[in-house]
Amino acid sequence: MTTPEPALSAEGLGVRYGSFVALKDVTLQVRANSVHAIIGPNGAGKTTLFHALTGRIRAATGRITLNGQDITRTRDDDRVRLGLARSFQVTSLFATLSVRENLRLAAQGRTPWAALAPWRRVAEGDASHDTADALLRRLDLAGVAGRPAGELSHGQQRRLEVGMAMAARPRVILLDEPTSGMGTDDIGAMTALIRDLGRDHTVLFIEHNMGIVMNISDTVTVMRAGEILVEGRPEVVRDDPEVRRAYLGNMITGDLR
Ligand SMILES: Nc1ncnc2c1ncn2[C@@H]1O[C@H](COP(=O)(O)OP(=O)(O)OP(=O)(O)O)[C@@H](O)[C@H]1O
Ligand SMILES: [Mg+2]
Repeated sequence: MTTPEPALSAEGLGVRYGSFVALKDVTLQVRANSVHAIIGPNGAGKTTLFHALTGRIRAATGRITLNGQDITRTRDDDRVRLGLARSFQVTSLFATLSVRENLRLAAQGRTPWAALAPWRRVAEGDASHDTADALLRRLDLAGVAGRPAGELSHGQQRRLEVGMAMAARPRVILLDEPTSGMGTDDIGAMTALIRDLGRDHTVLFIEHNMGIVMNISDTVTVMRAGEILVEGRPEVVRDDPEVRRAYLGNMITGDLR
């Protein structure tokens, strides 16, 4: 049996900030249609790994492939076009436009700012309406579809950000701490959304909440000091003696910080 090609992979990735080695020889394979978590203490290099994968920063060494295509030297916006999306920041939401309108514009591959230009208005009735409606249901935001995005709760805004990334129909979605700063209800909704996303997307997410990681991940990669410490199925990683030794104190509180 041949192993299916990973959706996203990194080989020997290295990143430096000046003389500081932030990532060292990171090799990672993200299976298509899986939910893959990256965990590790503060400063382990998780966000730096995302920056290198998305092309926001350039890796000093190594190779990155997306669906088998070498994207190591591909610009960040071209990586998005090839199907690699990261969650938008709240600031990219247009606060005075409705939730549905934000999604519709994202489905057209446009920012709300560009769409405000009246000479660039798009004809009504295109497929973006259907995409927006489907996303509203998936995001559990149908009840607030007509509300200005700026009036949503923090948790709802974070779900909308994920939806904005989904609207571009990416193959792989990267989420950096999608549940940070959320209360219990919103954490539950985001967790359900990520699990649902894994059915037809590939999701790579950074998360400190171990309950979420153990519940919804197919694979967990543990990073420490710029390197990969352990990788495997959640229960294997949880029971790994080296992970336990490294994080025992914090594991008791259920948080890997
Ligand atoms: N632009 C930068 N210049 C210099 N050092 C940086 C820069 N960005 C990050 N670092 C350092 O690189 C290391 C890795 O940072 P990174 O943000 O990737 O960690 P992280 O695992 O995402 O941590 P956290 O869980 O706190 O978000 C840290 O020691 C950090 O201080
Ligand atoms: Mg980080």
